[in-house]
Amino acid sequence: MKQVVVLGATGSIGLSTLDVLKRHADRFSLHTITAYRSVDKMLELILAYEPVQAIMACPDAAEQLASRLPTESPTRILGGEQALVDAASDSDVDVVMAAIVGFAGLRPTLAAAEHGKRLLLANKEALVSAGRVFMEATRSGGATLLPIDSEHNAMFQCIPANNRGRPETAGVEKILLTASGGPFRGRPRSELLGVTPEQACAHPNWSMGRKISVDSATLLNKGLELAEACWLFDCTPGDIDVVVHPQSIIHSLVRYDDGSVLAQLGNPDMRTPIAYGLSWPERIDAGVAPLDLVSVAKLDFEAPDLEAFPCLRLAQEAITQPGGMCILNAANEIAVAAFLAGGLGFTGIDNVIAHALENVSADEPDNLEAVEALDGRARACAQERIEQLEHDTRGV
Ligand SMILES: NC(=O)c1ccc[n+]([C@@H]2O[C@H](COP(=O)([O-])OP(=O)(O)OC[C@H]3O[C@@H](n4cnc5c(N)ncnc54)[C@H](OP(=O)(O)O)[C@@H]3O)[C@@H](O)[C@H]2O)c1
Repeated sequence: MKQVVVLGATGSIGLSTLDVLKRHADRFSLHTITAYRSVDKMLELILAYEPVQAIMACPDAAEQLASRLPTESPTRILGGEQALVDAASDSDVDVVMAAIVGFAGLRPTLAAAEHGKRLLLANKEALVSAGRVFMEATRSGGATLLPIDSEHNAMFQCIPANNRGRPETAGVEKILLTASGGPFRGRPRSELLGVTPEQACAHPNWSMGRKISVDSATLLNKGLELAEACWLFDCTPGDIDVVVHPQSIIHSLVRYDDGSVLAQLGNPDMRTPIAYGLSWPERIDAGVAPLDLVSVAKLDFEAPDLEAFPCLRLAQEAITQPGGMCILNAANEIAVAAFLAGGLGFTGIDNVIAHALENVSADEPDNLEAVEALDGRARACAQERIEQLEHDTRGV
């Protein structure tokens, strides 16, 4: 029986993970679930799944949750960020699903890597911000790192096991990273000025949290994924081409020296990569409908439009700049939060990121404290830029 921690259990990936775990209660036992401050959702999950512990990163929310828990519940309630780190490092735990959104997930995710867990990585912001520090923790801790992003999970499935991390020796000529293009695919930049958070979050194929939905609409998500693939498969941006594939049926491809191209296909449902991460190298039922190619009928491909969506280009540049992806990620998190709150326009997101990349100087951070310090400086710079843009718009 594998003991599982689900970091970010109340989110889109967290709930899909719980659904897969429930189908395999003979193999997996739910040790810990965590959230930030969604008390109602957490209470529902505790009553449905009865984990050993439930942690709210926000201590006030933990108090509220504890006060509403029926006295007969077997679940222990804990609060605070250190409790997340402790759960991810607990010697009783075998598997950690890292599904907190954003940089906030870095410490517990890193703890799971340092303690040699099977680490299912959805929280791409943790890997791209901490890059070298993260990969070094995975190596020295002896963790098994399994990508949950559907694209990287597809690459993982298409590169032979004995060559992962060294694609060049596997005869890999190019990795083809697919992108749906998001809800605004095909629109010129002039039509993106007034788009609303609701429009940006209405992804045509995937149902996801709001932050990644906006990242998908700006193509910034593809930039994070480019950096993620470079770390996971030990390659450079030149080894990877981004291809827009609007149906999201092919989740990524690997082209080999002999002309072969291997692809992984499936319905757009995150339970497939989650189930593969949980059971690898075996395969288990994920609850996903079989792919019906006749009803899909058509698979289209096009090049990304970097003029309308400059975030991907910014990421391509940031990957080559010391600490660039940490700066880009932090600026993006601040900008997306401002956009969702109505304080920044959609096209302001890339403006804020470009400003942070130009104005925050850095060396490549080589420990957690340096990563956090750089993240903090980039956030402050992004915040200042947003205030300046707001000021200019008002004409004050
Ligand atoms: N959704 C997808 O299909 C998908 C696909 C590929 C990769 N990913 C990646 O998976 C991660 C999660 O995405 P999602 O769409 O599942 O996000 P989501 O639906 O917004 O859920 C985020 C989860 O993180 C928790 N959380 C938020 N802020 C936190 C904080 N400061 N400290 C601790 N916990 C915090 C939330 O708790 P509360 O509910 O209490 O706020 C929630 O449980 C992201 O990195 C995303 O890029 C997602």
